Amino acid sequence: MRITIVSLLSFFLCYLIYLSIYLSATTGKCLEDQQSLLIQLKNNLTFEPENSSKLKLWNQSIECCNWRGVTCDDEGRVIGLDLSGELIGGGFDDSSVVFSLQHLQKLNLADNNFSSVVPSGFNKLENLTYLNLSCAGFVGQIPIEISQMTRLVTLDISSLSS
Ligand SMILES: *[C@@H]1O[C@H](CO)[C@@H](O)[C@H](O)[C@H]1NC(C)=O
Ligand SMILES: *[C@@H]1O[C@H](CO)[C@@H](O)[C@H](O)[C@H]1NC(C)=O
Ligand SMILES: *[C@@H]1O[C@H](CO)[C@@H](O)[C@H](O)[C@H]1NC(C)=O
Ligand SMILES: *[C@@H]1O[C@H](CO)[C@@H](O)[C@H](O)[C@H]1NC(C)=O
Ligand SMILES: *[C@@H]1O[C@H](CO)[C@@H](O)[C@H](O)[C@H]1NC(C)=O
Ligand SMILES: *[C@@H]1O[C@H](CO)[C@@H](O)[C@H](O)[C@H]1NC(C)=O
Repeated sequence: MRITIVSLLSFFLCYLIYLSIYLSATTGKCLEDQQSLLIQLKNNLTFEPENSSKLKLWNQSIECCNWRGVTCDDEGRVIGLDLSGELIGGGFDDSSVVFSLQHLQKLNLADNNFSSVVPSGFNKLENLTYLNLSCAGFVGQIPIEISQMTRLVTLDISSLSS
């Protein structure tokens, strides 16, 4: 009987250790600088909570890698940002902190209401492979800088200014 309990306990302990290793390996812990950039981004964007399903829920009570629309790598660096369909009305230009999220690989700004020119800073994101500006509400021309993005694989500019 005692042996069974001991082995049960050690099995349980092994399971706990395995679980904690598994969890720490798969969900990168959000880096502090990345979180503060995201908070700044949220504060600078113009959006209405009633029309938002992601941004409005970003808050520091939760690890920023678990915020809706945010994807991190194992080291807690933000590599994906999906702000599509938030009806964002403004606050996104060349000085946006988006361009300081330098590890970004995927950026989706589709289905918004920016009503401003397309920023030219996307080429600061050297590892960006996916950029979606479909129906983002931008006006004017596509900046030449976008053609200098050597890693870009997917660029969606359909109905840029819907
Ligand atoms: C973004 O927000 C920060 C404060 O969170 C402010 O200091 C900064 O000036 C804003 N930048 C822009 C471009 O609006
Ligand atoms: C929120 O979305 C509704 C429906 O699309 C729209 O009529 C309204 O103008 C939006 N509100 C703001 C403040 O953008
Ligand atoms: C913080 O985010 C969580 C889930 O994303 C949400 O349930 C909660 O209401 C948020 N808190 C505030 C104060 O917005
Ligand atoms: C860009 O990707 C390369 C190769 O994957 C990596 O070594 C480098 O650290 C990345 N740069 C940034 C700023 O994340
Ligand atoms: C861009 O985003 C829109 C809206 O989310 C989506 O329908 C479209 O398939 C995306 N384009 C690409 C190339 O992924
Ligand atoms: C989009 O922006 C324009 C001009 O800023 C505004 O008139 C319109 O109501 C906005 N649309 C939505 C759906 O928020």
